[in-house]
Amino acid sequence: MTDTISLPAWAQHGTDLSGKTVLVVGGAGGVGEGVTRALLAGGATVVATARTQAKLDDLAARVDDPKLVVRPLDVMGAGLEEVVDDLVGDHGLLDGVVIAIADWGDQGRKGLLDHTDDEWEALVAANQTSVFRAYRALVPAVAPSGMIAQLNGFSSDIPFPGAGGVAASAAATKSMTRTIAEEVGGRGPRVYEVILGMIRTRPRQLAGIDDPAWIPSADVGFHVAELVAGSGRLAGTVLHYFVDRDSGPRPTAPTRP
Ligand SMILES: NC(=O)c1ccc[n+]([C@@H]2O[C@H](COP(=O)([O-])OP(=O)(O)OC[C@H]3O[C@@H](n4cnc5c(N)ncnc54)[C@H](OP(=O)(O)O)[C@@H]3O)[C@@H](O)[C@H]2O)c1
Repeated sequence: MTDTISLPAWAQHGTDLSGKTVLVVGGAGGVGEGVTRALLAGGATVVATARTQAKLDDLAARVDDPKLVVRPLDVMGAGLEEVVDDLVGDHGLLDGVVIAIADWGDQGRKGLLDHTDDEWEALVAANQTSVFRAYRALVPAVAPSGMIAQLNGFSSDIPFPGAGGVAASAAATKSMTRTIAEEVGGRGPRVYEVILGMIRTRPRQLAGIDDPAWIPSADVGFHVAELVAGSGRLAGTVLHYFVDRDSGPRPTAPTRP
């Protein structure tokens, strides 16, 4: 496993995020770490969050970059608004926010109709209410010239047998993002939904699950960097699909993943 990252062929050269501050919620997660590294490579100050200090300490030691700030944050926590207020107090209104959160739950793979009420409610809380609470707290913390993006999976569009609860929340949060984008509609930050295919992440690689054809997590970050800069060819489009490593992000869904 390597921590070196390189600009993919489809990406613009020279995206400069110097002077910008981007919050990556879930920045110590698999995709979040790649996004964090790519934003740092672009010159941004990155505030990466996790729910435990131990994960933040591990991330800070691995990334070892003076522009990385780590911060505990649980979007389901009672003190969310206070944490966001403190963040804005320290950094000013943010130039970008990335919501990179996911929770597969404890129920394992099972048919949708086999979920208990408790399993269903836990999945909705962890994957849907969490994103709602993140948007509600964080949209006001972004500068009007800035952006907020939710990273999501292609299960938001296609059937996902065995993981129907996660897929249902993915579809719901895709809908949520598109609605917020219209409600904010030019009077606030740009709002993006980035739907991802299979990503190569550190936790997956540590678990021995990897495929060179999958998208490196940092490539997601290079796309996000262009959105923060407002310079990418998709900067004016809400919905993006990034499911093919070589062709990069697209504004339309692929015919198959
Ligand atoms: N990996 C893929 O192949 C893939 C494919 C398509 C889409 N995605 C999308 O990428 C995003 C991240 O997925 P991942 O693969 O990186 O998952 P991951 O490695 O399991 O990371 C999930 C992250 O979510 C954070 N999180 C969960 N609940 C939270 C809460 N209540 N408050 C704050 N943070 C919370 C976790 O924080 P802690 O660090 O505190 O645990 C963790 O950093 C998701 O939106 C997912 O849909 C991933």
